[in-house]
Amino acid sequence: MRSPKDFFRPLAVGAPEPLRQIPFRPSRMIHFFDPGNEKMAAKVPDMAGKADVLLGNLEDAIQADRKEAARNGLVRIAREVDFGDTQLWTRVNSLDSPWVLDDLLTLVTAIGDKLDVIMVPKVEGPEDIHYVDRLLAQLEARAGLTEPLLVHAILETASGVANVEEIALASPRMQGISLGPADLAASRRMKTTRVGGGHPGYLVRTDPVGDSIEDGRTTYQQDLWHYTVARMVDACVAAGILPYYGPFGDIRDVVACEDQFRNAYLLGCVGAWSLHPKQIEIARRVFSPEASEVVWARRVIEAMGDGTGAVMLDGKMQDDATVKQCQVIVALADDLAA
Ligand code: GLV
Ligand code: MG
Repeated sequence: MRSPKDFFRPLAVGAPEPLRQIPFRPSRMIHFFDPGNEKMAAKVPDMAGKADVLLGNLEDAIQADRKEAARNGLVRIAREVDFGDTQLWTRVNSLDSPWVLDDLLTLVTAIGDKLDVIMVPKVEGPEDIHYVDRLLAQLEARAGLTEPLLVHAILETASGVANVEEIALASPRMQGISLGPADLAASRRMKTTRVGGGHPGYLVRTDPVGDSIEDGRTTYQQDLWHYTVARMVDACVAAGILPYYGPFGDIRDVVACEDQFRNAYLLGCVGAWSLHPKQIEIARRVFSPEASEVVWARRVIEAMGDGTGAVMLDGKMQDDATVKQCQVIVALADDLAA
């Protein structure tokens, strides 16, 4: 058993055990807002209760000369708004920027008791998390905070992906990791200018049917993010933290957004970012198990009795492993209903 003091100490890289299970709080959508934008800020009280998580964004999409306004806006909003069950997160600037020190200093001292999670962008390796961990410990002590702030890393550099397992294990403060497809695409030199989603050029083609190579061919677009999401999910689950898909930039394309979110859900992610109210509803639907799936899962669990052995249900074989699959669905449905 680790003592509370250990909480503040970065763990050895590669610590073998899942370190902690994050207590369940719905986080199907992390809804971004610009705290320095008065129109957006005015909508925050109404959004509290509608989104599982509201995130005051200080990093990309906030112009350099508006960083301070965004930071101060977040302090004001956090003090004034009653967030109820909605979590309040922030995304601070990256560790190589001139703003992050002031972000952390101001936010932890002024509203550290109101913030649930601090999202750190462009994390390259565990050393970035260790740095934040130590700094937060100092600032929390200075502010007299009793609850440690949690940290969420964005996976959006090639080095970050190469080190994702160590990042996930880097501190007991780690709450989760999100895929950041835009920065990651740039870092990897991928040739897409889209924020998440697929690309019409990334496809598989079936064999020709007739004599000509043009005959009867079908093409299927593939998921550009499959490998990274799957690797991130494994790293997060092994560390006992939560995986998320990040942003989907084409707000009009609700169909492709839903597809991207659902792929992430099926691969194990618990939520995604939302950049527009439309995407809040998509995420809520996609990251909650479907009613028919829950009914089926409960039937399997019941039919399997003590959970061992094998039974046939509607022509489908069930055994010890399928019970576990069904328990995942039922546990999520119960947690969300609680
Ligand atoms: C998010 O920050 C991204 O770069 O996709
Ligand atoms: Mg980014």
